[in-house]
Formats: sequence, C-alpha cells, structure tokens
Amino acid sequence: MIKKNININNLVSGKSRDLKGMVKPPADKSISHRALLFSSLAIGKSEISNLLNSEDVLNMLKALKLLGIKITKKNNVYYVIGSGLTGFKTPNKHVDCGNSGTLARILIGAIGGSEVFVTLTGDNSLRARPMNRVMNPLRKMGINFTSSNGLLPLIVYGTDEILPIKYNSPISSAQVKTSILLAGLNAKGTSEIIEPYTSRDHSENLLKYFGADIKYNSKISGKNKVLITGGNNLKSCNIIVPGDISSAAFIIVAATIIPGSDIIVKNVGINYFRKGILEALNKMGAKIRIENQFINNFNEPIADISVKYSKIKGITLDSTYSSRLIDEYPILAMAAAVANGKSVFKGLSELRHKESDRFNGIIDGLTASGIKVEAKNDDIIIYGNLSRVKGGVTIDCHYDHRIAMSFLILGAVAEKPIKVVGCNSILTSYPNFTSELNNLGMNIRNEK
Ligand code: S3P
Repeated sequence: MIKKNININNLVSGKSRDLKGMVKPPADKSISHRALLFSSLAIGKSEISNLLNSEDVLNMLKALKLLGIKITKKNNVYYVIGSGLTGFKTPNKHVDCGNSGTLARILIGAIGGSEVFVTLTGDNSLRARPMNRVMNPLRKMGINFTSSNGLLPLIVYGTDEILPIKYNSPISSAQVKTSILLAGLNAKGTSEIIEPYTSRDHSENLLKYFGADIKYNSKISGKNKVLITGGNNLKSCNIIVPGDISSAAFIIVAATIIPGSDIIVKNVGINYFRKGILEALNKMGAKIRIENQFINNFNEPIADISVKYSKIKGITLDSTYSSRLIDEYPILAMAAAVANGKSVFKGLSELRHKESDRFNGIIDGLTASGIKVEAKNDDIIIYGNLSRVKGGVTIDCHYDHRIAMSFLILGAVAEKPIKVVGCNSILTSYPNFTSELNNLGMNIRNEK
C-alpha cells in the first residue's frame, strides 16, 4: 500500500555493500494499466491479481471509476465490472492522469467510442508532453478534441460513429498503437496500424486474450502491422500481472556493478520487446541468467533472473534497440558510466518526451557526477570509467522516477554519495524501491 503523504523527496545514496538475496520486483506498469482498462471495456467481471500498487496505476483506477466503472478489491484481488465497448459515462469532474502518459494516451482511444464529454489533465510533467501523436490519428477516426498546443488539459468528445483507419505511424510507440487499437474496437470495419518497428506488444496479447478480432505477428525487425476489426465484444478475463522488467532493471544493473553481488530477481516479464536491457547488459559482459521460464495465459514469457557482479565493457547500440529498451536507457547509462570504455547509444530522440527530458537528464547528471559524456544529434556517447565516478553531487531528477532511481544506483559505486531531489516521483512506479534495495544491501537514506 502506498503510504499517503509519504515524503521521500530527497534521497541520498552512498557506498553499498555487495547485494545478496532474492527479490520480487513490482508488477508490470504497462500491463497493470491495460488490465484495468481492457477489463472496463469487457462485458462481465474480470479478476486482476498482482496489480501494481503505484500512483500511476491508482490514477488509472480512479479515472475508470469516475467514468462509471465499478471496481472493488478483496484480498489483494481487483474485480472490474466492465461496461462494454461503449459504456463509459461522462464524469462529474475532470480526470487527473497525474504523471502518467500511458494513462492519458490509451484512455482517450478507449473512451472515444462512448458518447462522453471528458476533460483530462495531469501534473506539470504530463502537461508538457505531446498529445498530438494520439489526437491526430484519433481525429481521423472521428473523435473530437479541444486542447491548446496539443497538450493537456484537453477535452475528449466521444462518438458512436468511429471510422476505421489505416495509420502509418512515424514513431514506434505502444501508447499510440494501443490508443488506435482501442478506438478501432468500435470502428465499423478493419483498422490497420503500421509502425517503423514493433513496440511492446502487451496490448495485442491482451486484446487477443479478451477476444478481440486482432491480427498481428510482432516482427522482430522491420515494419510492424497490426489489424483490428471493430464490433466484437470483449469477454471478461482473469489476469495475473507479471513483474516489471523496467523496475527489475534497476536491481539487475545494481547487482552487475556492485562488487561481490549475487542475486535472483523473481517472476519478471521478459517480453521480447521489453528485454533489450538484458541483451545490452549481456553484450557488455554482465553475468545474467534466465531461469524457470514459462509462457502465461496471455502469451507473455515470465522468468527468474539471476545476476552476479561482473566487470563490464562499453557497447554501441543502434537505433533499432531504442523501442526495446526505451525506459531503460537511464539505468543502462549508469552501467555505461562504470563500464570500461566508450558506449554509444543511437537514436534516442524519444527520450526527450518522457516524464522529463531524459536525453539531457542523463547527460547533465553523469557530467555532474564526473563522467565524460557527449551528445551528437540524437545519440549519447558515454566514456565509461569507474574511477571517475566522483559523486558528491545533488541531482534534480525533475520529478522523473527513472532518472531518480538511476542516479541512486550510481551513488552505490560513486566515491562520494549522490543526493537526488524529486524522489517522490518513485511512487509512480516502484513505491518500495528504497526498502527493497536497502534490504539487498544498498545504502539509501532519506534526507529531511
Ligand atoms: C508504455 C510505452 C512506452 C514507455 C512507457 C510505457 C506503455 O512509451 O516509454 O513508459 O505502457 O505503452 P511509448 O509508447 O510512447 O514509446
């Protein structure tokens, strides 16, 4: 349970002892959002276990309740009574999406097929993030919006006349793809979404599980095409949410770079389009082993991951990796900072549009910590050298959970502690981060 008004805004991370033990990362945020939203669109009662208990997901839950969906919780299981594809109601106040781009973007595609009138807003970070990437295709499908400059707050005017679309997306974005797919559930005909290369395919897997008329084969290279035909009701489902590889990545990198570490991370979702971080670390020479793998009932591979400390070297990653580890670049950059030699991460323009401008956040934070870093167009070049990780700095994460957790991990191996300001943001995805990492051996403390 997230403690109300908890204040962990300033955290200081100092030298860590070797990490030892077993840990279960928090539940997957992407799948938690989708489990709640897709269950709301289904007919009947869905059951969701191991839902992520974080601010972003609780904001999704609140949003759905405001839109008329009945959701209850008993013994840690959530029960969602879906209202069908067009059953959302106009709420009596605005929907606050907090810090979550996924919530804002996928919700508007889902509610656009109900005859509703909804105002969406969010925190300072979310109100600065681009929404045209979803509003543009959704407008072509008949959903109307008012917003100034393509930003939140915006108003959605739903319609019962959704048109199918053929959309060639300029970017690989699971949020954009999902929003169009959800609107497409109500279109009279088949919609086609093409992305430059496949982004995470949890929506496709789950929509199939819920009984949608969807066709996809998630190509591992080149353009990806997904077809969805409207008019098929979704049926209620039982979902157990796997652990989040994006949260596990902090533990995995910490164990890789802290000498003497030897840990096991249990029950991690290792979807191909999410596990670029494991491939990248393996290429750097990390000792990571996948154990006890199985495929769950909605086609998601899940496994335990064993990680041992190892000396790592720099790598070059081309832009085809970027959507497969989009959320992991901040923590991968910390690994690159302590690795031996140069790392080049290419094609990172999307990093500028996350919870903060992560492209510059990585560069500024590493530079302040003592590491030489260069930016070349959309590429980041990191000259790894453990002996130059001086620390002794205060880093403002600009209320970005992944930047905060990344620099706290770097503090574990820095010469002097690293202080991070803005750590309340960690509650959006990994509320128990500090206690879980400290239990393994890290030394993160709260500074009043
Ligand atoms: C997400 C998709 C990604 C990712 C985000 C979660 C999702 O964003 O960065 O944290 O759940 O669909 P994009 O789809 O915009 O790349």
